[in-house]
Amino acid sequence: MPFAQPTPPTTLVIFGATGDLTRRLLIPALINLTRGGMIGDDLQILGVAVEPGGDEMLRDRLDDFLSGLGDGEPLATDAAWKGLRQRISYFSGDFTGDDVYLEIGRRLSGNAAFYLAVPPAFFGPIIEKLAEHGLTDESENAFRRIAIEKPFGTDLASATALNAQILCKVAESQVYRLDHFLGKETVQNILTARFANMIIESLWNSRYIDHVQITAAEIVDVGTRGKFYDATGALRDMIPNHLFQLLAMIAMEPPNGFDAEEIRNEKSKVLKALRIFTPEEAEAHAVRGAYGAGTLNGAELPAFRETKDVAPDSRTETFVALKLYADTWRWAGVPFYLRTGKALTARDTEIVVQFQPVPFTQFRETDVRYNLPPNRLIIQVQPDEGMSIEISIKSPGLSVETVPVSLDFRYADKFDIGKMTGYESLLYDLFIGDQTLFQRADGIEAGWAAVQPFLDIWAKDGKTPELYAPGSTGPTCADELIERDGRKWHAIGEATKKDGH
Ligand code: BG6
Repeated sequence: MPFAQPTPPTTLVIFGATGDLTRRLLIPALINLTRGGMIGDDLQILGVAVEPGGDEMLRDRLDDFLSGLGDGEPLATDAAWKGLRQRISYFSGDFTGDDVYLEIGRRLSGNAAFYLAVPPAFFGPIIEKLAEHGLTDESENAFRRIAIEKPFGTDLASATALNAQILCKVAESQVYRLDHFLGKETVQNILTARFANMIIESLWNSRYIDHVQITAAEIVDVGTRGKFYDATGALRDMIPNHLFQLLAMIAMEPPNGFDAEEIRNEKSKVLKALRIFTPEEAEAHAVRGAYGAGTLNGAELPAFRETKDVAPDSRTETFVALKLYADTWRWAGVPFYLRTGKALTARDTEIVVQFQPVPFTQFRETDVRYNLPPNRLIIQVQPDEGMSIEISIKSPGLSVETVPVSLDFRYADKFDIGKMTGYESLLYDLFIGDQTLFQRADGIEAGWAAVQPFLDIWAKDGKTPELYAPGSTGPTCADELIERDGRKWHAIGEATKKDGH
């Protein structure tokens, strides 16, 4: 991480410190940052959760978890972890009472970042209590910041209400709403790809781009998250947050500068330009599916509706595909096709930008006259992070024939990014006070506003999602959605299959 400055002395107060997020992502990310020299001995971690215990309980638990991790390198004996471990303290308490906040107040001085790794019902109440106890009051020598995990609301009304509840207690500049997709290296690279490369940005508009596809396909099924997922569904879980962040970075205008406000202004502008559909339009621009029973990765998988904690008559979708428009000068008429789903054939998060066909084919009287494939830019977010450009070349030989080839860049071929959790840059930015990779209130609300028409019609229409087989590419209605426009989805998993990747 060149040119990065070490973080200022900070106490990271983690609400929900005994939970999965803390051990799986936050602590490993802090270890990586420590190893990279990005945080020093002056970072203190104060964990709070309902589980009884003290400092050693949490430290031992983390030891157990960390030693079970990894690729041969025993994290528990690692110098970075050892240093960090002794700066972890813990106490238990009820987030809704006052004692927790009085205790935090006794232990805290100087800079603090409060990390809410708790169920969303606690977001508002914890922030209110922190404010009531003066713990969010900043001074010239002490910042007070709050990091909030997703889900941020469950629809437009609840997200707006939560923003209002938070922003009457603290300033927007103190709020760091996380979307972990923004911690992914390839997502951050979208802006560099666009704004550091003339050959990309000069073609970045409706004159040259036919359409954009954004896919987040997962092999994992709903697993043990039945209760959460049945109440949430693929649309709420992935679209207004993760996929809209990708869309915003693809579609935003160049910011005036690379600071947080300039970038977030442009992202919010494009999210606010997403067309808000009437109920009839929403019906025509969205399809949904749910996986049935079948085999996934060689194992039997029960249908989503037969999953533990899912209602047998559930109408919740595990797959969604949408066709959206950003009504701006740049993107007029360019469809953005989005899809995401679980229990699919491959893990594949990618953005495919398909360019217009050439205006005129020079190859009359040859075999290539009618079948020139379009150019495509493919940003492979995960796995096998990278970028490729598909172009046509002449195949060697005496006749004029073209073949599509891929100019391919993979991060793993050039850099060692394997061990990052994706939370390193987010935590680092939280400590140094850079909000670029965090969502602002207006952006969140614009995202919910664009998906609200789909939520509304699905709540009313009484229809059930189309079933698809586990291990497939999703329901046939998703293919129909794009094929009726004369287009095709980029095959899920294709970019990673080819070239042996
Ligand atoms: C989470 C969703 O926010 O993102 C999960 O709640 C989903 O359902 C996950 O599996 C996907 O994240 P990633 O980083 O594994 O692609």
